[in-house]
Amino acid sequence: GPVTQWLAEMPKAELHLHLDGSLRAPRLLQLAAKHGVDLPYTSVEEVEAAYNFSDLQSFLDLYYLGASVLRDAEDFYLLMKDYLDVCRQQKIVHCEIMVEPQTYLPQGVDLSVVLAGFDRAIVEAHEGWGQSVQLILSFLRHLPEADCIAMLEAADLYRKHFCAIGLASAEKDFPPANFQTLYREAKNRGYELTAHAGEEGPASFIRDALELLSVSRIDHGVRAVEDEGLLDHLAANRVPLTVCPLSNVRLCVYDEMSEHRILELLERGLCVTVNSDDPAYFGGDLLENFAALESDLGMTREQALVLVRNGFEAAYLPSEAKMALD
Ligand code: HPA
Ligand code: ZN
Repeated sequence: GPVTQWLAEMPKAELHLHLDGSLRAPRLLQLAAKHGVDLPYTSVEEVEAAYNFSDLQSFLDLYYLGASVLRDAEDFYLLMKDYLDVCRQQKIVHCEIMVEPQTYLPQGVDLSVVLAGFDRAIVEAHEGWGQSVQLILSFLRHLPEADCIAMLEAADLYRKHFCAIGLASAEKDFPPANFQTLYREAKNRGYELTAHAGEEGPASFIRDALELLSVSRIDHGVRAVEDEGLLDHLAANRVPLTVCPLSNVRLCVYDEMSEHRILELLERGLCVTVNSDDPAYFGGDLLENFAALESDLGMTREQALVLVRNGFEAAYLPSEAKMALD
């Protein structure tokens, strides 16, 4: 629609993007063939037919399977390059990308290999069209906290590559309370702190992420609607929620986009932002997420502008840098 067309030309930020979630079917199949990885699909059509999820876990199973084809620095270069090309096409001038090195440990891939590939693509995009990129070191909460702390320590050698830490994967049985030492250690190292909370888990997990982990941002956070007091707190403190509309519908957090509450949260004064989460799995990049809000929720030009501005407000950038991009 017209609002989305207008947004296409506007500089935007994206703050909630799992790089493994941007691995598209053609590249997935190419890398599986390259490394001789057996996947339960052999064509783009079969991949897309399999991406029919009933909840977060049913998605995560295929997400980790897909990421298992990533093995060498060239693979990580191509993965990052493909997403940064989308940033260029969609005018996503600043992105904060979640990287999950624990995902590659079963294949024996070292963090140095992952970051060497990423770095090459990031430098090319920066020199090529001034792309602004920051990386978030995201931990897998279905693994023990001690494993996460070991990865945090391994990342000390590469501290300058990351602006923040995050916490992703299965939420319901893995509450924020289990990761207090990890977050204290990361805070001591000077990382910004964010975490997934209130996607499938209850609103109390958002409160716990804020109080027990001291996060300054919440990934998803849509279940805050179940707690009026929490909504008041989030609005009064402008705590950003990195909302992912297409993800929420594809993972059945909402049955239909028309049930999504993002515009109500916006009107209530919360710092909500729009993001794509795992675009290869959920049927759209950032602009397609905005397009769904326009077509199914009637997002106005004024609302779209505030959503875009919120993306820069919520970014882990010094305020001078934000003004230069905005
Ligand atoms: N939730 C939790 N973990 C994830 C997600 C998500 O939406 N996407 C990739 N890892
Ligand atoms: Zn996510």
